[in-house]
Amino acid sequence: MEVFSSLLSWQSIAVTVVLYFLTLAFYRLYLHPLAKFPGPKLAAITRYYEAYYDIIKNGQYTFRIAEMHKIYGPIVRISPYELHINDPSYFEKLYRHEGRWNKYDWAVEAHNAPGGIIFTPDHDQHRARRLPLNAYFSKASVLRRQGLIDRKVEKFCGRIAEFAATGKPIDLGAAISAFQRDVSTDFVLGKNYNNLDQPDFGVGMTLFMQGGGTMWRLTKHIRWYGPAMLSIPKDFLIKNADPDTANFMRYAKDSEEETARLLKAAASYKPEDDAPRTIVHEIFDSNLPPEDKTVKRVFSDVATVTGAGFETTSSVLRLIVYYVFSNPEILRRLRAELANATKPSSSLDATIPLHTLEQLPYLTAVLMEGMRLSPAIATRSQRIAPDRDLIYDKYRIPAGTPVGMTVVFMHTDEKLYPDPHKFDPERWVNPETRKKSEKTYAPFSRGTRICLGMHLAWAEMYLVMAALLPKFDFDFKGLTPEDHFEVMSDQFIISTKGKAVLEARVSLRKT
Ligand code: HEM
Repeated sequence: MEVFSSLLSWQSIAVTVVLYFLTLAFYRLYLHPLAKFPGPKLAAITRYYEAYYDIIKNGQYTFRIAEMHKIYGPIVRISPYELHINDPSYFEKLYRHEGRWNKYDWAVEAHNAPGGIIFTPDHDQHRARRLPLNAYFSKASVLRRQGLIDRKVEKFCGRIAEFAATGKPIDLGAAISAFQRDVSTDFVLGKNYNNLDQPDFGVGMTLFMQGGGTMWRLTKHIRWYGPAMLSIPKDFLIKNADPDTANFMRYAKDSEEETARLLKAAASYKPEDDAPRTIVHEIFDSNLPPEDKTVKRVFSDVATVTGAGFETTSSVLRLIVYYVFSNPEILRRLRAELANATKPSSSLDATIPLHTLEQLPYLTAVLMEGMRLSPAIATRSQRIAPDRDLIYDKYRIPAGTPVGMTVVFMHTDEKLYPDPHKFDPERWVNPETRKKSEKTYAPFSRGTRICLGMHLAWAEMYLVMAALLPKFDFDFKGLTPEDHFEVMSDQFIISTKGKAVLEARVSLRKT
């Protein structure tokens, strides 16, 4: 009995705990399969190293990883379990179609949207879930639905024209986000939430989306945090939370109810029906198993697929609009190119065929340069080869190891892009330079998990620019790119110094 109670004394418990952690640290530093990889010792011992940069330093781990590469070289062990590579030549080997590629469940599950394709870790399950949506987001399908985007572009321009008439400054950043949300929800769910009609462009939704990374980063390290937050009933939050959260919850509740309604109606859907086809119909008609057709699972896809089109394309468009309209030479060249390719239009509608715009080399170069500087996602995207070792340089990476690369680093590598922070569309005009960068330019990622909405994103960017260029002039009142577009933190999406706000004075273009 005495022996037993002495074993339970606080001193012996403390000694056991200390011994356990010392043994664990020793194992991770010297015996673990990743022990041979360079990197900070503390990061190899504990994930709390990452937690410090994620939580206390508010999304700074991406930048800490960049510093690690300067010290330790192109491959670094960034946690007890994970590697990061900063070598553009490896991108096409890690993000590819051949072979099975899982995502890292620890990272994706923290997004609190289980079941959505973007957060499905397993290769085969992801493939099965993505299959029914591929045709819906194909280039041909986007082309067929240009009318939907045109109508939003027309409304967008109409709202901007109101500000031009009154001379009041416009938050162009919020207006761009509103446009994106209206296109995305209409395209995916067949429902218009009319963000563009709101006097402030529903800026609260934009701010809420911009802050969404905090919950993800906290849940990575405190696993119960996200599920606990999500267990709070939406109705309670709608009544009691701050206006931005309440607004978002109203949207989430409505879109979930809409998903349930569509799923119920999908059984009797006929192509000649008036109602548009949506991703809910595609999933319902697919060969997915019944458990993938529940309201909960389908809503996960609806929420994440629409959400993936919100602040991604918005942040790119904000940057492009800013650089184009504050640079007279770029503006002049774009306008000349567009005028040559299209008939001048006196109304505010936008009806230029997409395939005409896609042929314009300078406009295309401008959009590519925008996506180079703002590839939407700030974080590394890990891939796991579950069934084979990977080889990097002299290293053999054990099967099952999460390995990530960060596109922002690759896109601002000065060996690939001299003066990397300069907005210089010229890089993409010359076919030679363009060809050279083909393998290391990946705003939409590559391989099995390549962006599902990339054709929609391209279409939106072409059509918005083609509509704004002939009609408006914007004055950003001395705002500098450093003031606004510097990448400041990893909120999964890129968070910049200026966040989503982009104040401008707008006037109708004098021709
Ligand atoms: C310029 C705008 C955009 C950029 C730069 C972008 C970028 C990306 C990237 C890098 C990924 C891969 C993420 C990962 O590896 O974890 C991705 C995935 C995805 N994107 Fe986009 N995206 C954009 C616009 C859109 C739009 C408009 C939509 C749809 C409305 C969309 C829907 C998706 C979906 C559903 C996935 C997940 C694909 C999968 O896991 O199979 N994106 N996007």
